[in-house]
Amino acid sequence: MTPRILITGASRGMGLELSKQYVAAGARVFAAARTPHQGELLRLAEKHPKQVSLITLDVTNEEHLPAAVAAVRAQVDGLDVLINNAGMNLRGQSLGGYTRAVMLETLHTNAVAPVLIGQAFLGLLRKGSRPRLVQISSQVGSFSWNTGGRSPLYAASKAALNMYTRCISHESPDLITVVVHPGWVQTDMGGPSAPLPVTDAVQALRTLIDGLSLADNGHFLNYDGRPHPW
Ligand SMILES: NC(=O)c1ccc[n+]([C@@H]2O[C@H](COP(=O)([O-])OP(=O)(O)OC[C@H]3O[C@@H](n4cnc5c(N)ncnc54)[C@H](OP(=O)(O)O)[C@@H]3O)[C@@H](O)[C@H]2O)c1
Repeated sequence: MTPRILITGASRGMGLELSKQYVAAGARVFAAARTPHQGELLRLAEKHPKQVSLITLDVTNEEHLPAAVAAVRAQVDGLDVLINNAGMNLRGQSLGGYTRAVMLETLHTNAVAPVLIGQAFLGLLRKGSRPRLVQISSQVGSFSWNTGGRSPLYAASKAALNMYTRCISHESPDLITVVVHPGWVQTDMGGPSAPLPVTDAVQALRTLIDGLSLADNGHFLNYDGRPHPW
């Protein structure tokens, strides 16, 4: 059966590459983005109209979510994979300069939204085949890895995502819910010094996601499949 996959933050970076590679592999892709009807993502959808549906979803806009769920439900009766990939990292934030607005926006985008999106698509996931809820986190959200206090607001938001996800894995033992560190990747966020080309990172992520089983539920994994320390 053709896998049905929803990807958030599909406009660029890993989200766009995930969309491209899943399309090339024959999947049915719901590519969600703040402004999906433009640029490379629009071209992908125009080239593969039977495989790609563009979904308008600003992950922090609660009004978008019911419409996004309805749009997917109108086209498929189940989802096999939901990849909460959208994320933000405003650089240059440090003690003395913290503001409530940036702290809350970062938490909202990186931690609260993936939980609410997972919750909203739970019904469709439960009708999917080997349903997988994949939360793209980061190693900087790991307490044991990030001992140097790197990227405080971003790190705290990913740590929150990690714990939310660990709890969800207990609340929904019928789903395969995982947190994944995608590697340090050459995207706008990762920058040009990152060691991993986005094509390689996404290839590895796809292999990881393809191989997930219920035994992985609640795990924090590196993009290459190795367990990641919390
Ligand atoms: N790159 C790395 O080295 C690295 C390492 C660890 C973890 N990660 C994680 O991997 C994921 C993808 O990162 P990336 O490197 O591909 O980053 P990126 O190139 O900066 O792309 C970020 C994506 O998230 C979207 N986004 C941000 N806020 C959004 C919102 N409110 N609603 C909808 N979409 C939103 C952006 O959409 P717009 O185009 O509309 O802005 C864009 O598509 C993120 O969760 C990131 O934290 C990345």
